Amino acid sequence: MDTTPKKPIPQEAAPYEILAAGYDLVMSHVDYEEWAIYIHQVLMKHRPENVETVIELGCGTGLFAIELQPLADYTMAGIDKAPNMIRFAKERAEWEGIPVQFEVADFTDFKLDQCVDAMILLQDGLNYLLHTDAILRLFSCVYNGLKAGGLFVFDLSTPHNSINNAAYFDDEDEEGGFHYIRKSHYEPISRIHTTQFTLNFQQQTYYETHIQQAYTFEEIHQLIQQTPFMFLAAYHDTSLKPANSESERIHWVLQKPA
Ligand SMILES: C[S@@+](CC[C@H](N)C(=O)[O-])C[C@H]1O[C@@H](n2cnc3c(N)ncnc32)[C@H](O)[C@@H]1O
Repeated sequence: MDTTPKKPIPQEAAPYEILAAGYDLVMSHVDYEEWAIYIHQVLMKHRPENVETVIELGCGTGLFAIELQPLADYTMAGIDKAPNMIRFAKERAEWEGIPVQFEVADFTDFKLDQCVDAMILLQDGLNYLLHTDAILRLFSCVYNGLKAGGLFVFDLSTPHNSINNAAYFDDEDEEGGFHYIRKSHYEPISRIHTTQFTLNFQQQTYYETHIQQAYTFEEIHQLIQQTPFMFLAAYHDTSLKPANSESERIHWVLQKPA
């Protein structure tokens, strides 16, 4: 009789189902404190008179929201469609004593009980939408949930990011019993950026496939023109300079007319 312990068969998991447990490790290169200061500055620049209530869409494990909330004692909430990301976000908020509410919701299909002053969507959230009709649904939900004069700030990873930084998208790391290997492939014709994670966690191997669409400045600008939003700015990376044709990341600022 063969008594060798059988290796568990690798399992396919939904995006962020397992990665949630190691998301902070994968994102350890991102300075969320700096990013929150930047977004706070953008909100102050475009609506200095009044931003009190803020919702972060696609908030993940709450890394950004936890940094932004204390900067102006924002009344803040975060939504994400991945239940495990929200579970970690809730744990973080409780552990750090930061008052942010987190809930599972799809940012292309949500309704708020009360309109807010600003909504934010960062770190490629929009790139996860593979079709422009989904982006228009996102814009419509955000528009309906903002007060008159409210702001929508979101970032976009462009094809330049996928092309110029290809080397950084393949890596491997381990911490606290969570190990990941990340391999990424960018298809320049379709501009589809596929990231394959192999995750080892709790004696089990999992695969997660994340598919993103790299949109150009012009594509997003044209979509905005189909909405009632006012276009206020498109910033190059985390600056207050206008985005240009080489920008790898763009921060867009839209406003619901007052
Ligand atoms: C790269 S993570 C960014 C998380 C967070 N914004 C951050 O900066 O760490 C993208 C997040 O978007 C979420 N997401 C993707 N599509 C979504 C959708 N339709 N509705 C809500 N969340 C979504 C994912 O679950 C994931 O948590």
